[in-house]
Amino acid sequence: MPILNRARLKRLIQEEIQRFQQEHPKSNELYLRARQSMQGGVPMLWMIRWPGSFPIFVKNARGAHFEDVDGHSYIDFCLGDTGAMTGHSPVESVEAIRNQVGNGITLMLPMEDAIWVGEELQRRFGLKFWQFTLTATDANRFAIRMARHITGRPKILVFNYCYHGSVDETFITLDEKGLPGPRSGNLGPPINPIETSRVVEFNDIPALEEALIHGDVAAVLAEPVMTNIGIIHPQPGYHDALRKLTRKYGSCLIIDETHTICTSPGGYTGKFGLDPDFLTCGKPLASGIPAGVYGFTQQVADAFWARIQHDESDVGGVGGTLAGNALSIAAIRATLEHVLTQAMYDRCEALADHYEQGILDCISDYELPWIVKRLGFRVEYWFCETAPINGGEANAAVDSDLDRFMHLWALNRGILMTPFHNMALIAADTTEEDIEYHTRIFREAVQTLIAE
Ligand SMILES: Cc1ncc(COP(=O)(O)O)c(C=O)c1O
Repeated sequence: MPILNRARLKRLIQEEIQRFQQEHPKSNELYLRARQSMQGGVPMLWMIRWPGSFPIFVKNARGAHFEDVDGHSYIDFCLGDTGAMTGHSPVESVEAIRNQVGNGITLMLPMEDAIWVGEELQRRFGLKFWQFTLTATDANRFAIRMARHITGRPKILVFNYCYHGSVDETFITLDEKGLPGPRSGNLGPPINPIETSRVVEFNDIPALEEALIHGDVAAVLAEPVMTNIGIIHPQPGYHDALRKLTRKYGSCLIIDETHTICTSPGGYTGKFGLDPDFLTCGKPLASGIPAGVYGFTQQVADAFWARIQHDESDVGGVGGTLAGNALSIAAIRATLEHVLTQAMYDRCEALADHYEQGILDCISDYELPWIVKRLGFRVEYWFCETAPINGGEANAAVDSDLDRFMHLWALNRGILMTPFHNMALIAADTTEEDIEYHTRIFREAVQTLIAE
């Protein structure tokens, strides 16, 4: 590839920002108004992390597409950062949600749907017992609490640059010298995470063993494939080693499938036969209605029951009044029964093949030093020649200016990519035309970048 002209890149970004501002006057107006009542002008702070000067305000969304208040239509490859992996408002889920809304939303009593869901989760993921939360974050928190409770150990081991929701123990990273410390940007940590956590690089088996050998790790919390600092696959044999070492040193293994659920209906665990003590998931499980789940083995359940008083179960730090509410569970049932089906996965994978090929062809035609990573129907491109094998390498490979340019270029032409990296998730309603269009826009971005 011709050497990238950085001054030109900065200029191109400015041109795209100007175009964005000119074409989104209503979003801008709403944003200025929103700043008077919401911090940062958004309901949740992440929503300011888009590449334009303000977030796009959405009018409506359906399937793999949405419209903004300025009348633009978009192909949505972000899909609520996996929360809408089902496509927006899938018909079967909407019907079940409508039915349930008129029949009781939350009771703090179970309904029969919960059993159906528990049995289905058992079938998909292989773990025996299930509990419900409102978010994947809470699923992780509660699995951690249970692991600490049954092992009597204080620490949680995570991987450098992982993300598992706003779980305090996970905001720990390694610095350039390989020393652990609080992750940059972590707000008001209750305690320095080196007190609560250990951190090692993914795919580093000796480092994992060295960290577990202390005998103070209650649980290793891992995505089976890292997805939040880009997609980083486990090297051959890594999961076997992770399972063997956690058993050898008496630590629980928690596998977080919140993003890797795009691998198969049973996630990465179902497809590759992992055997964790706990499994957590959230985001798309209820088609976007808040819901999370955590499952665990018979052995964990036995150890837990032996150490819990029933009349104290509401103050154990595990639960939540709205967790397991009737609406969320009806939505999970409909989503599992009718939406996140093998047929849907097959269709999305085929579309992802097409999407990936479009990028690969362009990379090859222009001899770009870029690569593509893939997990199920999650696809992303990276601005580096060799695939990072751990979070530290991946973090060092981030090119914020190129990221911003590619995102803005796409956004200004009706394509929403996942923020924070160049990731696309395919939905069942994504069309072949959407993919073709993305391929064309991606190619035009490259041509513009390298033009003299
Ligand atoms: C792997 C993983 N686990 C858990 C979470 C937390 O999800 P939520 O914010 O919905 O609680 C995320 C969020 O991005 C995630 O990527």
